[in-house]
Amino acid sequence: MHKITLMNSKGGCGKTTIATNLAAYYAAKGYSTCLFDFDPQGSSANWLSRRNENRPPIYGFVAGNNKMSPVNSNQQQAPSDSQIAIIDSPAGVALDDATLKALVKNTDTLLMPVLPSPIDIHACAHFIEKILIQGGAKQNGLKMSNIGIVANRVKTNTVAYRALCKFLDRLGIPFVASLNDAQNYVFAHEHGLGIHELSKSRNVKDQEQWSELLNWLDTKAMENSTTNKQAGNF
Ligand SMILES: Nc1ncnc2c1ncn2[C@@H]1O[C@H](COP(=O)(O)OP(=O)(O)OP(=O)(O)O)[C@@H](O)[C@H]1O
Ligand SMILES: [Mg+2]
Repeated sequence: MHKITLMNSKGGCGKTTIATNLAAYYAAKGYSTCLFDFDPQGSSANWLSRRNENRPPIYGFVAGNNKMSPVNSNQQQAPSDSQIAIIDSPAGVALDDATLKALVKNTDTLLMPVLPSPIDIHACAHFIEKILIQGGAKQNGLKMSNIGIVANRVKTNTVAYRALCKFLDRLGIPFVASLNDAQNYVFAHEHGLGIHELSKSRNVKDQEQWSELLNWLDTKAMENSTTNKQAGNF
């Protein structure tokens, strides 16, 4: 199973948006897909509860009180043949060290959405340090090359976007994709959909941008299957 976690210290950077879009994409591709919501706000679970039951299924779980509760099903835990687990986490400020460590330990690939603003760039740099130190990334088998940055809500040709690109270049962590600021994300979320489930004519550009992210994740899935990180279950 390929475990992909969305994480960053900043609220509102797009963790849930990317988590739900990934879950919808993999489910539509026929993968047995789970979505774990570790955020007490429950936004991913809420999205899943709005998903039409005729859509490709996603096994949803909410984390709370040291246990997992299913969303919209009686499935008490991830099916043993699950292929993809998407983990949505709360903003880093709300993450205690023990949860941070557990998430790092149970992650094959970590995606960090960042908004193109100086405040977010600064916070992102600090959070990477936190993942390495408090999260014990090295001891828990999470390599820097398995952390990918996704610039989100981008408006190209702005000073803020160019500053973000410059920062990411220096960082030495893969800069995987840039996603535009687009109303399609808001619409899809409201309807329990991913943008790949909207008509292509509606969002060709958005889907093109996603292909960079999806290709990178495919490469990581292949690498992880050969290194076979045995992290265990939540
Ligand atoms: N690429 C995008 N284009 C337009 N709107 C977006 C995009 N990404 C996210 N949003 C919107 O921005 C808001 C915050 O996004 P989201 O909830 O995914 O962030 P988050 O990091 O999960 O926030 P939190 O830390 O509160 O859990 C939402 O209203 C969402 O619809
Ligand atoms: Mg969220």
